[in-house]
Amino acid sequence: MPALSKMVVDLKRSGIREIMDMAGTMEDVIHLEVGEPKFDTPPHIVSAALEAARAGFTRYTPNKGLLSLRRIIAGRVEEDYGVSVTSENIVVTVGGVGAVAIAVRALVDRGDEVLIPDPGWPNYESIIYCAGALPKRYPLSRTNGFLPDLNDLDQAISAKTKVLILNSPSNPLGVVLPSELVRDLVTLAKRRDIYIISDEVYDKIIYEGRHASALSYDTDGRVIGVFSFSKSYAMTGWRVGYAVASEPVADQLTKLQEAYVSCASSVSQKAAEAALLASQDCIEEMRGTYAGNLAAAREVLDGLGIRYQVPRGAFYVWIDVNSKDSATYARALLSREKVAVAPGTTFGPSGSRYIRISLASDRDSIREGLRRLGSFQHE
Ligand SMILES: Cc1ncc(COP(=O)(O)O)c(C=O)c1O
Repeated sequence: MPALSKMVVDLKRSGIREIMDMAGTMEDVIHLEVGEPKFDTPPHIVSAALEAARAGFTRYTPNKGLLSLRRIIAGRVEEDYGVSVTSENIVVTVGGVGAVAIAVRALVDRGDEVLIPDPGWPNYESIIYCAGALPKRYPLSRTNGFLPDLNDLDQAISAKTKVLILNSPSNPLGVVLPSELVRDLVTLAKRRDIYIISDEVYDKIIYEGRHASALSYDTDGRVIGVFSFSKSYAMTGWRVGYAVASEPVADQLTKLQEAYVSCASSVSQKAAEAALLASQDCIEEMRGTYAGNLAAAREVLDGLGIRYQVPRGAFYVWIDVNSKDSATYARALLSREKVAVAPGTTFGPSGSRYIRISLASDRDSIREGLRRLGSFQHE
């Protein structure tokens, strides 16, 4: 047989997947590793999809997504973030990950650099790698409240830098970028003439303060906003998200949709319409549950004297387990205490002393998992 693609052979898999695979061979494991709402998709959203399927709404949609959905999204973006956009600025994608993937691919050529947060969502690195570009990490350090430092970023930008990826609220830190910083980051991108891909898939899951969208500060079409139905509406399996971009960029994204996936699922797009048009109370209910889970987690962690980053958004807690290598730590925690967590190293080199737990797990599991983590630490 001829050799398989070297690039794909060399593609690294997520460290969370390794823990999940290991946990899959064991019984009675407490699962805190996966970033996925436990909730079922709200019934009115499911009904809309069923009705659409029964009515024969089962064919391809335009590459860019249904015009009806794009119009609703454009209205929502305008309402939420005060940005004047039309359906032409919206591309409906296969989840948020689909939007990040085509946004990166649409902007870079081989050898270009893309700045990504450390720690940050692991897919950024693999997506950039698959586009033939080079991920370059910018540090988010505890001493700076895990916020990006403008001067450091300014220095990290080289002639090869094409894109800066921002993620707020962030996975794994739960950091919500203050609006002034978001504004300054967009100004920096403009001064240094680079794009921003602003991953805002957790925009509706905020515990403190308000979400500031980078789109609100964009004056010349250099920000591509990435959003998703997965987290806000418990719709991870429906695979529907969207990108908001200037028309030339949106057209570029649409060409890639055609090449890679044709379009997002038609019934999922109908479900997404129902999600946006109906009452938004379901978001508030889920957010309330995550906030309760956070309070429960904090109580146990504070009792154990374990240091952690208090999230202001998203649904994760970044816990300092003071390990030298959190991948080894997570494997040992799983095999000895039957608690599955995401190793910090999977989010970047700065995560070696940390692990991440998901607040989207059930409350009793969070309490018990953290208690076990406490006794494991003190062994
Ligand atoms: C930061 C971040 N961006 C994007 C995504 C993509 O989610 P989806 O493709 O389900 O919309 C995730 C999922 O975990 C995420 O954590």
